[in-house]
Amino acid sequence: MKYPDLGFEPFFTWSNRPRVMYKAGVREELGFEMEKLGGTKAVLYTDKGLVDVGVAQMVIDTIKASSLELVGVFDKIVQDARIDLINEGAAFYRKCGANCMVVVGGGSVMDTAKAINILIGGGLDDFTPLAEQVGLFDGAKSLPPHIAFPTTAGTGAEVTYAMVVLNDIAHAKIAVAHPYCNPDIAMLDPELTVKLPPKITAFTAMDALTHAIEAITTTNANPISDGLGLHAVRLIAKYLPEVVKNPGNVEARGYLLIASTMAGMSFINAFTGGVHATGHALGAIYHVPHGMAMNIMLPHLMAFNLGEKPERFAMIADAMGVKIDGMTTQQAAQAAVQAVKDLQKAVGLTQTLKDFGVPEGREALNPLIDLAMGDSQLPYNPRELQEDDLYNLYIKAR
Ligand SMILES: [Fe+2]
Repeated sequence: MKYPDLGFEPFFTWSNRPRVMYKAGVREELGFEMEKLGGTKAVLYTDKGLVDVGVAQMVIDTIKASSLELVGVFDKIVQDARIDLINEGAAFYRKCGANCMVVVGGGSVMDTAKAINILIGGGLDDFTPLAEQVGLFDGAKSLPPHIAFPTTAGTGAEVTYAMVVLNDIAHAKIAVAHPYCNPDIAMLDPELTVKLPPKITAFTAMDALTHAIEAITTTNANPISDGLGLHAVRLIAKYLPEVVKNPGNVEARGYLLIASTMAGMSFINAFTGGVHATGHALGAIYHVPHGMAMNIMLPHLMAFNLGEKPERFAMIADAMGVKIDGMTTQQAAQAAVQAVKDLQKAVGLTQTLKDFGVPEGREALNPLIDLAMGDSQLPYNPRELQEDDLYNLYIKAR
């Protein structure tokens, strides 16, 4: 399609901090790269699932073959970055006498590790007061050496300078930003993602697709985020069905991982919108996994938003491979919603909010609506969202 006339805010900033290294087997570079960063004694942060399937061991083997000393493995991290485990992870680092961290995991592991590194770098032992602030920018200093290996192609947390922390007392998921919390190096090694079951591969990739689509359509979109977001959409639409069909296809896994990183770069600068606002609330109250919440809410928010920025949704349809020649802009925008639904069907994602116990009464949904209304990402949605809109969207997604 011919590039349409698109506006963007006259001022924007772009953050580009983590170095990205890509190769099937790039973990072999870990020891050499950590040494350049000044790290000599590492704690590896991961979760039990990755230990059990041998993915953590794949990285441990490369550490053992290098001059880097592994002084501890912290594998207690669970879904969502929890403050008790952030504090415990920082105490573990100190007890082990570590001076750098290696992180192997999905978004929850990477976000937990970012928060741990903030505690270590700041000489602190409790993240609770920090979780009450949206931005830890004042006087922020660089943090101890930190290399991360994403094991899902979804969150983009390896390149984002924020973490989503679960406040279990308030039942809320809160995004906290710190300019140096992302790793010094994001190592993209698709061999580490091969064991991820197809279903989890599919819904985590829908998180990446949501990052791209929301970044392209947010009030904060700019030409750099458009470029990264649109190419991420192309790669996900092309390679996700192939990966679900052939989970061992390392090349296709690699493209998905790259797409997820690009989408992460795009949204951390352009922000997200209503899918993330409604999805964070679903995660906090009903513990819907983040990618699944994104997957369920995405087509409904797209349909709600498309009249606001039809030319951007038309570009998304084009990037998803829809033949939009001969369509009006409005028809092409509608086709983007259908293309997302077709992709979901093709990769076996058929769940609705009902499957996660989300009720239908207005009163029962009010806590979700209240949380979503207060979410940091809601203001960037291209179309204003009122409480009644959120109620209708949750009902449509049941
Ligand atoms: Fe997300």
